[in-house]
Amino acid sequence: MTTFQPTFLLHGADYNYEQWLDYPEVLAEDFRLMRAARCNVMSVGIFSWAMLEPTEGEYQFEWLDRLMDSLAENGMRAILATPSGAKPAWLAHKYPEVRLVDEHGRREPYRLRHNHCPTSPIYRAKVQQINRRLAERYRTHPALFMWHASNEYCNFGCRCDLCRDAFRAWLRQRYGSLDALNHAWWTTFWSHRYSDWSQIEPVDPSCHGLMLDWLRFCSDQVLNFYRQEIGPLRELTPDVPITTNFMLPDVGLDYWQFAPHVDVISWDSYPRWHGDQPDSAVAVKAAFMHDLHRSFKARPFLLMESTPSVTNWQGISRPKRPGMHLLSSLQAVAHGANGVQYFQWRQSRGGEEKFHGAVVGHIGGGETRIFGEVAAVGDHLAQLNHLTTTCNQAAVAIIYDFQNEWALKLAQLPRSVEKNYQEQCVAHYRPFWEMGITADVIDSVAADLSAYRLVIAPMLYMLREGVAARLAEFVQNGGTLVLTYLSGLVNESDLCFVGDSPLRPLLGLWVEETDVLYAHNQQTLEATPGNALGLSGSYPATHYADVLHLDGATAVAHYGHDYYAGQPALTVHEAGNGRVYYLAARTDHTFLTDFYGALRQQVNLLRSVSAPLPEGVTAQVRGDGREQTLFLLNFQPTPQTVDLGAVTYDDVVSGTAVSGTVELPAYGLRILRAGK
Ligand code: GLA
Ligand code: ZN
Repeated sequence: MTTFQPTFLLHGADYNYEQWLDYPEVLAEDFRLMRAARCNVMSVGIFSWAMLEPTEGEYQFEWLDRLMDSLAENGMRAILATPSGAKPAWLAHKYPEVRLVDEHGRREPYRLRHNHCPTSPIYRAKVQQINRRLAERYRTHPALFMWHASNEYCNFGCRCDLCRDAFRAWLRQRYGSLDALNHAWWTTFWSHRYSDWSQIEPVDPSCHGLMLDWLRFCSDQVLNFYRQEIGPLRELTPDVPITTNFMLPDVGLDYWQFAPHVDVISWDSYPRWHGDQPDSAVAVKAAFMHDLHRSFKARPFLLMESTPSVTNWQGISRPKRPGMHLLSSLQAVAHGANGVQYFQWRQSRGGEEKFHGAVVGHIGGGETRIFGEVAAVGDHLAQLNHLTTTCNQAAVAIIYDFQNEWALKLAQLPRSVEKNYQEQCVAHYRPFWEMGITADVIDSVAADLSAYRLVIAPMLYMLREGVAARLAEFVQNGGTLVLTYLSGLVNESDLCFVGDSPLRPLLGLWVEETDVLYAHNQQTLEATPGNALGLSGSYPATHYADVLHLDGATAVAHYGHDYYAGQPALTVHEAGNGRVYYLAARTDHTFLTDFYGALRQQVNLLRSVSAPLPEGVTAQVRGDGREQTLFLLNFQPTPQTVDLGAVTYDDVVSGTAVSGTVELPAYGLRILRAGK
């Protein structure tokens, strides 16, 4: 492991110079523009295999030498990619096994990218060879800054014989015997019992245990591929940090397991601004994802890709309105990013992404609005280098568990439409964003809960090994925990718990049955008079509503309708030094705002700005007690005013002192430093 501790905030882009070798004027022009936009890094070589090794064993590095030299001459650094994300035609044709096979046994023709077999020994060997060449050639190059392993690894889903055999070996390791496997997967159902390992095929959606293990295996196999791919890099350049660009979950990788193996987390963020949802809602989701990526290592991360304007793969993608590019870029920094990068520097002339946004478009030059907005990001980042050693501190965490997400997706429930696990995690996060309270986004297994005062685990359907005990310990030690409907139903193998749920002692209740609601069905949560949270009135309940029996817990709210009217719908259970809330039904944003507003006071969470924030505005603090930077971010298309109370700040950009109320322009921001 190499610790990544930059002294400056990164600003740059994916630069595919290899597409422009026949255009000799491009290199000098690009570097002129990169200097103008205050870029200091470029990600290079990402899809360059065919230009590095045009035929098997014949290498041409001269163009990359020229590029690396130009970066160094211009005082810039290279995030040098390994090229395994897309393979050259000669490789795919000569060695068919490198191409993935679909669930019907058909091998892919040569096309696209990100579609190799992760098990193929030939692909692994070829990737290692080219990576070794790259590391040998550039290990002492002054521009080499970081490795960018491959591109957006995901669950390739290859079902070739090599992958199937590897899966069976993985299962033997996990279960030891077929009896154990048959029990864990409950294969007697529909007579699916296996009598030989070779009968196991990862193609049966009716066997949830099988498919869940297949997803786990695929995630492990990609991680294993990555670890092999970086072998030559670790060997030859032990001091050069390695990253790989994660992307929006869920892509079939358990990033919680991946994160310990990369030196710095980076991710690719493409929010759909100005679309069919309000920008404030888009901003909340982007914030959640940034916080997730910071939480993977509890350290600053990198925004490895973002578009300076539009994408070309989202159906409709509108150009970012004036101000939005600076705002969304600095949003990442506010949540812990140590750099902002784009896909792509120069718009490609042909191919799939020729109409994707870029810093330099087909029209060329730096006279465009987009280029100006990119340059403004460069100017801002250059004034924020003090942030690189700081991170965000959270007393609240939302559990977002990938394996739980997979199991929930597989589950056939009485209401399977709109399970929306990820969206619900974001819904529980949103009130904190609106209050200006930092939240981490953590795993149920990997995270250390003791750092938090409040932990929220929406829809924790699957309790993996040890999770119930960890949650109980957290509460015992004084933590406040929030659990919801659809929690604690199955174990790690997706087998339902029989008898008492492992959560019963913690929750002080048991769930008898769960009502599910159509949109036209009416149900409400009615605040129970005199409840300890001071909630009042009635709130709509939708989708799922558990019918509960109390066994130690007390009701905070009860149901308003149907045969379970008057029965508890929100409960609290004092346990050890802490307490547990159980929210038995899905609720709307108004309820969550009131609920978490009350919990904020009970748990004593500080807002970063004491007065309430206007809708669509957040205030995020980066730094610790000694050195705090406050970001006020306005995702509304209209100006907004924030009340800073009695605190005086310095505006980092203008250098002026700020107190009282501050104006934020439409899609505008202020970056303030608390007086020392
Ligand atoms: C991903 C990829 C890039 C590019 C962008 C387009 O993030 O990593 O190569 O395709 O999407 O948005
Ligand atoms: Zn395969």
